[in-house]
Amino acid sequence: MLGKPEPVIVQVEINSENDKAQALAERLSLPLIEASSPWLANSIRLRYQDAVLYALSVDPAGAEMAVKADFQQVLSTRRRQQAQGELLIKAVQGRQRQPLFILDATAGMAVDSMVMAAMGHKVLALEQSSVVYEVVQDGLQRAAHAGISLLPDLHQAEAVAWLTINAEQMFDVIYLDPMFAESSKRALPRKNMQLLRRLTEAQTGSETLWSLAKTRARLRVVVKRPLKGGPLAGSPDYSIKGQRIRFDIYQSN
Ligand SMILES: C[S@@+](CC[C@H](N)C(=O)[O-])C[C@H]1O[C@@H](n2cnc3c(N)ncnc32)[C@H](O)[C@@H]1O
Repeated sequence: MLGKPEPVIVQVEINSENDKAQALAERLSLPLIEASSPWLANSIRLRYQDAVLYALSVDPAGAEMAVKADFQQVLSTRRRQQAQGELLIKAVQGRQRQPLFILDATAGMAVDSMVMAAMGHKVLALEQSSVVYEVVQDGLQRAAHAGISLLPDLHQAEAVAWLTINAEQMFDVIYLDPMFAESSKRALPRKNMQLLRRLTEAQTGSETLWSLAKTRARLRVVVKRPLKGGPLAGSPDYSIKGQRIRFDIYQSN
């Protein structure tokens, strides 16, 4: 279980793409600031630049770290991620070869959602953080304009609430990747993961989400875990292991 994160101040920068910035600030009820204004402690900024939405923070040395959603890059990805993507596909597909209806209940930057959608699966992705949602949705829109058609369908929602409201909706597979506790041994996580950690509320409800997911997945629930971490809940039927992570698979009866 993660500790309570420090409250993060999120601000939207005004610049040449003023209309979009204003609309974003209004949608999220966030303050607009001049790009030149000094950085507040523990703050994150949203900035439109060249028609791309970035989330920015500063590192302890004062250097800006910018994160954007780039699904073209995800599709032409590096080798380690490719290997991880293959394991993910193996975990969610099992022996099925037909397209599946998958719920990614913890979408984050939607990299895993994208990998599953690119394999031809219909992916509904839920992300609770409105800031993360906006950054990812911006990337999805750019990907669609660039002609990529196999994309996840992203919604901003907390997954337990969404599944409760949409009580009749079943999925073939439900995929869960809640935030792991930080390993003290590891080097700093990638910058998009650092940003997600800062924006994410303390996640205490993952077991509840898992129990609910078990009742709504026709084939299986798949949970991403750190390689040496315990299972999120219960005993998985089997696991598929990568170098750093593993996928725990819970078959439906
Ligand atoms: C580790 S990240 C997921 C990374 C993702 N698999 C990817 O490929 O980018 C976990 C994300 O799940 C979201 N999340 C956690 N619990 C959630 C819930 N109950 N409903 C919706 N989103 C949730 C967090 O806000 C965070 O962005």
